[in-house]
Amino acid sequence: MLPHLKTILSAAVALLALSGVPGADAAACKNPAVRKEWRALTKTERVEWIDAVKCLAQLPHDENLTPTVNRSISNIVALNASGSYYDDFVYMHMDLNTRIHFTGLFLPWHRWYVAVYENALKTKCGFRGASPYWDWVKDSADVHDSPIFDADPESGLGGWGDPANDFRVPNGAFSNTSDFHLTYPSPHTLRRNYTLQPLLNFPLPGFLTAADEQLDGNATFTPAERDKLVNGFVGDFKGFQSYFESFNGSHGAVHLTLGGDLGGTCPDDAPSDCVGGPTFSANEPIFWLHHGMVDRLWTQWQDKHPENKHAFFGGSVEALENATYYKEFPNGAAPFFNLNSTMPSDGLFPQPRIADVMSTTAGMLCYVYE
Ligand SMILES: *[C@@H]1O[C@H](CO)[C@@H](O)[C@H](O)[C@H]1NC(C)=O
Ligand SMILES: *[C@@H]1O[C@H](CO)[C@@H](O)[C@H](O)[C@H]1NC(C)=O
Ligand SMILES: *[C@@H]1O[C@H](CO)[C@@H](O)[C@H](O)[C@H]1NC(C)=O
Ligand SMILES: *[C@@H]1O[C@H](CO)[C@@H](O)[C@H](O)[C@H]1NC(C)=O
Ligand SMILES: *[C@@H]1O[C@H](CO)[C@@H](O)[C@H](O)[C@H]1NC(C)=O
Ligand SMILES: *[C@@H]1O[C@H](CO)[C@@H](O)[C@H](O)[C@H]1NC(C)=O
Ligand SMILES: *[C@@H]1O[C@H](CO)[C@@H](O)[C@H](O)[C@H]1NC(C)=O
Ligand SMILES: *[C@@H]1O[C@H](CO)[C@@H](O)[C@H](O)[C@H]1NC(C)=O
Repeated sequence: MLPHLKTILSAAVALLALSGVPGADAAACKNPAVRKEWRALTKTERVEWIDAVKCLAQLPHDENLTPTVNRSISNIVALNASGSYYDDFVYMHMDLNTRIHFTGLFLPWHRWYVAVYENALKTKCGFRGASPYWDWVKDSADVHDSPIFDADPESGLGGWGDPANDFRVPNGAFSNTSDFHLTYPSPHTLRRNYTLQPLLNFPLPGFLTAADEQLDGNATFTPAERDKLVNGFVGDFKGFQSYFESFNGSHGAVHLTLGGDLGGTCPDDAPSDCVGGPTFSANEPIFWLHHGMVDRLWTQWQDKHPENKHAFFGGSVEALENATYYKEFPNGAAPFFNLNSTMPSDGLFPQPRIADVMSTTAGMLCYVYE
């Protein structure tokens, strides 16, 4: 077969697989894509991923993007139609923040989000690889000096931001002098601010113990913590998700240890009504690698025990009013979701059901992790 024909056909298959059309099943997933750790990629493969990400950031806004959460609740800036298609992905995450964090959608929605993003890299920007992940457990002893913060202008994700320049990343492929520009919450270039103890002076009273507040972020993603997460919580989706997503858990600690965009802090020159938080964290290209790792640990937990495989439980409303309520409903209060519930996609994609993404090798997905 001619290579380009093959590409077109596989793109068509990928589109079909992601269209949410029921009927795709395990039998259809014969050659799953293999998602690899960033360091296992060749230099060429890293450049290919980076170039595709930067390509999305040059494509125009998709006018189908339709926010669904009232801005008095989402607390985000208005949609900016001069943003890029990359910014659209960021905006979808901003808009849906309150629906996809601390609810039952956290794991399935972010699994789907990385998959549709990967598909956009392929169909719109010619990417031919698989979405990479960052195994932060490998770096738990010393995040600051991890080799993933590589300054190479073509193949490197870049290092830490310059404190004298609002923590803007000065090197790597996404540097402040590159063509990678972000629109939300206000136009800026990528920011990163290494933060060893991200939970000091935690603002929600009663949610964390005094010991939690002193935690080094990296203490939440040691090999022992990973094993506790992946081997524990048998059949207990709520327990698994809430340990992972809790304020002293590894998902949030990775966000906050990198600070800046991944940590959801407003740029210095953002309008004064800018509200930080998990909203615009997808500005950081490492977001996709981080959520690849989050997804990978969910697949490892799912594969650990037959009772985990299809386990799902979660509510649709965040229960963050007070610590007592949160402890009762850490992954959302009523109304509760079931596997047939659909997940929001803000007009950019057909809405998937939770059931469509419960397996990475059935339903609409076809990949495995190395
Ligand atoms: C959004 O919420 C505000 C404040 O509650 C309300 O006045 C407004 O009508 C809502 N907008 C929509 C489109 O529902
Ligand atoms: C966390 O990182 C700090 C600073 O690099 C290091 O001193 C500490 O040993 C690390 N903690 C763990 C549990 O590895
Ligand atoms: C980029 O960052 C470097 C280091 O912080 C700074 O000296 C330079 O002025 C910045 N350039 C631009 C165009 O922002
Ligand atoms: C909208 O986005 C464009 C492109 O990033 C930017 O130039 C413009 O300043 C933004 N407008 C606002 C109000 O943020
Ligand atoms: C950067 O991180 C330090 C902790 O390492 C924190 O004290 C500071 O407030 C952060 N600055 C910004 C602008 O995020
Ligand atoms: C986070 O808090 C929970 C509940 O108090 C506790 O079981 C867990 O060990 C804490 N995690 C870390 C990394 O300290
Ligand atoms: C906590 O929030 C829940 C839900 O809003 C409410 O029913 C409960 O009374 C609150 N408890 C306290 C101690 O404030
Ligand atoms: C989902 O819907 C199908 C048919 O529409 C039904 O057979 C199945 O029982 C439903 N499952 C749940 C968990 O509601």
